[in-house]
Amino acid sequence: MDVRDSSAIALCSPRLWVAAVGLTLFANPSLVLADSTSVFEPVSATAASIRDLFYMVLAITGGIFLVVEGALFYCVFKYRQSSDVDTATAQTEPPQIYGSRPVEVAWTVAPLLTVFVLFLVVFRSIMEVRKDDPPPDAMVVDVIGRQWWWEYHYPKEGVRTANELHLPVGDDGKPQPVYLNLLSVDVVHSFWVPRLSGKTDLLPGRKNFMWFTIDKPGVYWGQCAEYCGTQHGNMLLKVVAEPRADFEKWVADQKKNAVDVAAGEKGKKLFLGFACVNCHTVRGTAAKGTAGPDLTHLMSRETLASGMVENTRENLVKWVFDAQSVKPGCLMPSLHVSEEEAGEIANYLETLK
Ligand code: CUA
Repeated sequence: MDVRDSSAIALCSPRLWVAAVGLTLFANPSLVLADSTSVFEPVSATAASIRDLFYMVLAITGGIFLVVEGALFYCVFKYRQSSDVDTATAQTEPPQIYGSRPVEVAWTVAPLLTVFVLFLVVFRSIMEVRKDDPPPDAMVVDVIGRQWWWEYHYPKEGVRTANELHLPVGDDGKPQPVYLNLLSVDVVHSFWVPRLSGKTDLLPGRKNFMWFTIDKPGVYWGQCAEYCGTQHGNMLLKVVAEPRADFEKWVADQKKNAVDVAAGEKGKKLFLGFACVNCHTVRGTAAKGTAGPDLTHLMSRETLASGMVENTRENLVKWVFDAQSVKPGCLMPSLHVSEEEAGEIANYLETLK
C-alpha cells in the first residue's frame, strides 16, 4: 500500500467524525436536546453538579483527544512520502530507535495524573450528590417501581398516588429539599429525571434513596432507565413542581375520600362487582386492592398507563374494555366486560376527581 494513502485513511476515521459531531453538539446541545429532559438544563443543585462534572471530564478528555489527534495528523503530513522520491531505490524502512527512559516515564506519569484528577473530581461530585439522611425540612416520598408504572406514597401527608409526582418548590428563594426512598416490588427499575438528578436504581428487597433540591416550578420529565420488561419504554416519569400553596391544595384534595355522584352510580356497582377491586383502591368504597394504581382521584391525573396516553374518556373506555390493546403485556387482565359496561365504568371513573 502506498504510504500516501494514510492521510486519506485518517480522514475516513470514525473517531474524527464522532469528534466533529460531538463538538457541534457541545457548542449547541439544544440541537438535539431541546426538550425538557436535557441534562444541560438542570433545575437542581444536584443536577447542576452532575452537568459541571460532565463539562470538566469532557474538557480533560477533549484536551487529550486534541493532543493525540494533533500529533497523529502532524506525523501523517510531515513524514508522508513525497511524490518525487523514486520508490524503487528509496530506503524502505526509517531508522529504528529502541528505548527512551524520559519518553517512557512521561507516558506513564501523564495518564496516571490524568486518572487521579478524574478520580478526584468524580469523588467530589459523588459526595455532593449523596447525603444519607434527609434534611429535617425535606419533603419525603416513597417511590415504588412496578411493572410498569410508578407508585408514590407521601408518608407524612398520608397520600398515595400514581405516575405523576407532585412536589412543592421552596418559597422565598429557599430551595425545597426532596428526599426519595426508592423501592421496587418486582424487578430492577431506575428513577431518572435528568433535570433533577442522576439515575438511581430501585431494587427489590432493598431501599435506595435520592435527594435533590428544587426551587423552580415546572413539569420535569423522565423515564425508567433500567430495562424491566416488555413495557420498560412506557414508564414515563412526570414530576410536577408547584408553588407550596398549590401543592398543599393538591395534598388536601388527594386526602379526601371519593364522593358518590349520581352519574357514576351504575358504573360504581359494576366496578365493585368486577375484579377491579382486587387490585385498585378507591378510598371510601369497598375497593381496597393495592396491586394497581390508587384510583381515588384518578381524574386529577393528566395521563393514563404511566404517561402512555392522555386521560380522556375515550382512552378510559379503551383501557377498561381491553387494557392489553393499549399497553400489551401490562398486568391489568381483560375483565371480559361489554363495551356498554366499559362505558358505564368509565362514567364512574370520571367522577373520581
Ligand atoms: Cu421500569 Cu424500566
